[in-house]
Amino acid sequence: MLYIGIDLGTSAVKLLAMDEKGKIVNIVSKEYPIFFPHPGWSEQNPEDWYEQTMAGLKELLEKCDKSKVAGISFGGQMHGLVALDADDQVIRPAILWNDGRTAKQTDYLNQVIGKEKLSQYTANIAFAGFTAPKILWMKENEPDNFAKIAKIMLPKDYLAYRLSGSFCTDYSDASGMLLLDVQHRCWSREMMEICSVKEEQLPRLYESYEVVGTLKKEIAGELGVSPEVKVIAGAGDNAAAAVGTGTVGDGRCNISLGTSGTVFISSKTFGVDKYNALHSFDHADGAYHLMGCMLSAASCNKWWMDDILKTKNYSEEQAGITRLGENHVYFLPYLMGERSPHNNPDARAVFFGMSMDTTREEMTQAVLEGVSFALRDSLEVARDLGIRVERTKLCGGGAKSPLWRRIIANVMNLKVDIIESEEGPGYGGAILAAVGCGEYASVEEAAEKLVKVVETIEPEPELVAKYEKKYQKFRTIYPAVKALYGGEE
Ligand code: XUL
Repeated sequence: MLYIGIDLGTSAVKLLAMDEKGKIVNIVSKEYPIFFPHPGWSEQNPEDWYEQTMAGLKELLEKCDKSKVAGISFGGQMHGLVALDADDQVIRPAILWNDGRTAKQTDYLNQVIGKEKLSQYTANIAFAGFTAPKILWMKENEPDNFAKIAKIMLPKDYLAYRLSGSFCTDYSDASGMLLLDVQHRCWSREMMEICSVKEEQLPRLYESYEVVGTLKKEIAGELGVSPEVKVIAGAGDNAAAAVGTGTVGDGRCNISLGTSGTVFISSKTFGVDKYNALHSFDHADGAYHLMGCMLSAASCNKWWMDDILKTKNYSEEQAGITRLGENHVYFLPYLMGERSPHNNPDARAVFFGMSMDTTREEMTQAVLEGVSFALRDSLEVARDLGIRVERTKLCGGGAKSPLWRRIIANVMNLKVDIIESEEGPGYGGAILAAVGCGEYASVEEAAEKLVKVVETIEPEPELVAKYEKKYQKFRTIYPAVKALYGGEE
C-alpha cells in the first residue's frame, strides 16, 4: 500500500509517497509565492496551495503504482487564517503564521481579556501569529469581509476540504488558533464569544490519525486513483514533523530548522508553561506537547545567502567556517519579529560586534549561531520548568547542513540524532495516513517501527563551554535594543 504525506509549507508544498514499510517511494516539491504587502505582513493565496498540491500529486504519482494509494494526510503551516464565504469562495488572501499585523488585537487579548483567562480557556496566551487575533483584526479592519465569513479553517484544512469536501481540522493544528480548549480537546465557548465566532463557522475536530472522508470522485478521477482513497485529518507541521522524527510519547525533543524554528517536547500529560512563553498544544499522537517557535530560522540563512550574498551555494559559503565558538559577531534573527520567547512582533534583526577585520564567513556563521541561540532561548524556558532533555531529533531544510547540526549540538548541549529522512512533516503526514488506514495500531507504534536514526552528533565539551559564554552574551543583546523597536511602520 502507498501513503501520501503532504507538507503544506510556507515556501513550497512537499509531497511524499511512502510504502507500508516506511520506504519513501517518491518526493516532489512545488513552490508558490508569499506576499509581504506591508512590512511585517505575510499572506498567501489558498488557490496557489491547491493548484500546486494537485500538480505535485500528479507528478508524485507518475512514479507510483496508483492502484496502491490507500490514504493521504497532511502536515500544514499552522495558525493561518483561511476564511470562506457561503459559496465556499476564499474571502481574502490567507494571513499567515508569521504575520505581525495583529499587535493591537494581541495586546487586547493579553491585557484586557487577560493572560490568566486566556490560559484558563485555551492553555495559551495570545501571540500575533495565532488565528484568534487575526479574526479580531479582520472584524476591526475589514468588517465587510468579516460579515461574509461562513467557514474558518487552517491552511492544510483548506486542502482537505477541497480534496474531500470535509470541513475538518485536527487538535494539534486547532491548538494554535487560540480558540481550542487544549486540555479538554473542544472549542472554547468563551473564546468563540470573544472573537464573535459561532461553532458552525469552525471545522469539526478530529484526532490527527482519524479518517475525515474519501477523495471527491472528480479529484480521484483527475489523479487516476480510487475514490476509496482515505483522507486523514493530519496535523500542524510541527506535530507532523514530530511524528515523522519519532518525537512521540513522553519527554522527547525535536528541533525544526525550517522557515520557522521550533523546539518541540512531547508529553503524555497535559501541562502549561507557567511563563506562557512556550505553547501548550495537543499532539498528533493523541497526547500533548510544549513548543517554542521562532519566526525566522532557516529563512534567516536563506535571506542572508539569496538576498544579501546573492549565492545559492550554501555549502561553499559554509565550507570556510572553521572557528566555532570564537565568533565575535552576533546576529539577532528577528527578521519577522519574534514569537518565543519574546512575543514581540516589532522586533527586528541585528548584527552586532563587527570590526574592520570581520569576514564574510563570520557574518554567515553569526547567522547560523544566532538562530541556534534563539532556539536555545526556548529550550532554556523548558529547562526552567524542570524539563530535562538530553537528546533531540533535527528536521527541516537547515538540518541538511553538517555545520549547522554541529552548532546546534554544542549550543544546546544536546545529542542530536539524525534520522534517515529530514522530511519531518511530509513523512509524519504519511505515517498518520498509514495509521488512519489501519496499517498500524497507533501513531506511537508506527513511529517506533518506521523512524530510523542513522547518526548521532555528540556535543563536544570544549565547544559547549565556549558556546555557553557566547550564549550568555547573546541573551543580553535583545534586552539592550528592545526599546528601539517599533514605531516606524
Ligand atoms: C508554529 C508556527 C510555525 C509554522 C510554520 O507555531 O507558527 O512553525 O507552523 O509553518
